[in-house]
Amino acid sequence: MKYPAIDYTSYLELDNILGSQKPKSEEYKQPAHDEMLFIITHQTYELWFKQILHELSSTLQLFSQKEVKDTNMGIIVSRLDRIMEIFKLIKMQIPVLETMTPLDFLDFRDMLYPASGFQSFQFRLIENKLGLLSTERLTYNNAPYSKVFSEKEQKELKASEDQPSLFECVNKWLQRTPFLNDEQFDFWKNYKVAVDKMLSTEIELTNRNSLIDNDIKEKQLAQIEKTRELFSALFDKTKYQELKAQGQWRLSYESVHAALLIQMYRFEPAFQLPFRLITRLLDLDATLTEWRYKHALMAKRMLGTKVGTGGSSGSDYLKKSTEKHKIFNDFFQLTTFFIPRSQLPDLPDTLTKKMNFNYSQ
Ligand code: HEM
Repeated sequence: MKYPAIDYTSYLELDNILGSQKPKSEEYKQPAHDEMLFIITHQTYELWFKQILHELSSTLQLFSQKEVKDTNMGIIVSRLDRIMEIFKLIKMQIPVLETMTPLDFLDFRDMLYPASGFQSFQFRLIENKLGLLSTERLTYNNAPYSKVFSEKEQKELKASEDQPSLFECVNKWLQRTPFLNDEQFDFWKNYKVAVDKMLSTEIELTNRNSLIDNDIKEKQLAQIEKTRELFSALFDKTKYQELKAQGQWRLSYESVHAALLIQMYRFEPAFQLPFRLITRLLDLDATLTEWRYKHALMAKRMLGTKVGTGGSSGSDYLKKSTEKHKIFNDFFQLTTFFIPRSQLPDLPDTLTKKMNFNYSQ
């Protein structure tokens, strides 16, 4: 098939893209050199947000099917790898923007009221599609985050809240994890025995330690008791559901078991991709949090304690949203319950055979 010839400029719509930087300071005849950097930085962010949404939508489409095909798992993980690399890249744009000093910023800041990054529609879509719950969001000027958007955008945001997010897809997928128990092996039962053994050994070693005095010994024993309590909340389904209702956990009870199994036995062939997926979720959350933190620091550096152009308390609001707007926190909490590999229950051969890659001629 013959395709019509095309050139670089028209293919990339460069006339449109490069004609879209219109500094307000020029329009108001008070040219501020750094406004170009400010505009281009925000525009490149929005372009990368578009790419992230492209990857996320495809991931969700593959992931929200009743059964995720093995062939699609690789695609899902590579989409998340790509999103992660983009996150790392856009985080690096902050130091570039910070070459603009606070005084350079003040040259044109007043011309931007009441525009604010808070009105980035694509950023909100990304948060929703990843799984940030609207109930977990800070309110903004005593109103929901969506109030700053047009009616059409609000509808789209609501739809993104109602559709299954990455968090929800992962939760459902984990719930379906096989290998948790069969006639030969019950992971949860064996794991509980291993935890009890680990804690008893710790108590025994602490009691036998002649190098520490009684005060310290008691403190250490109390600490071990606290760890036991943490574990017992995990072993007791009713307690876990109570903690979940209080917002301390978000994953289902069954998903927690699966996530622990996958991570603790991650070298088993069947768990290698699932392990990479969970690691990516941790990476994504950590990098987004790092971005939020760096952005809050930049706002503090540029504005001090001034309020934001969008009317928030400025860097204070951003600091709080850094702490609160986390999505995959459960996976961070789960590491509390890892036990040393040497103390993990051995998997029976029948099970490891099932988890191997099987090739047939
Ligand atoms: C001089 C540089 C910047 C300053 C001083 C700044 C300041 C602020 C402030 C104070 C807020 C809180 C809302 C408000 O009251 O306006 C905010 C929100 C936001 N800004 Fe920036 N910003 C800067 C650059 C950027 C860039 C380059 C982006 C990239 C898209 C961005 C994206 C956002 C987003 C997404 C929010 C909402 C965050 C949330 O609600 O958690 N900002 N910014």
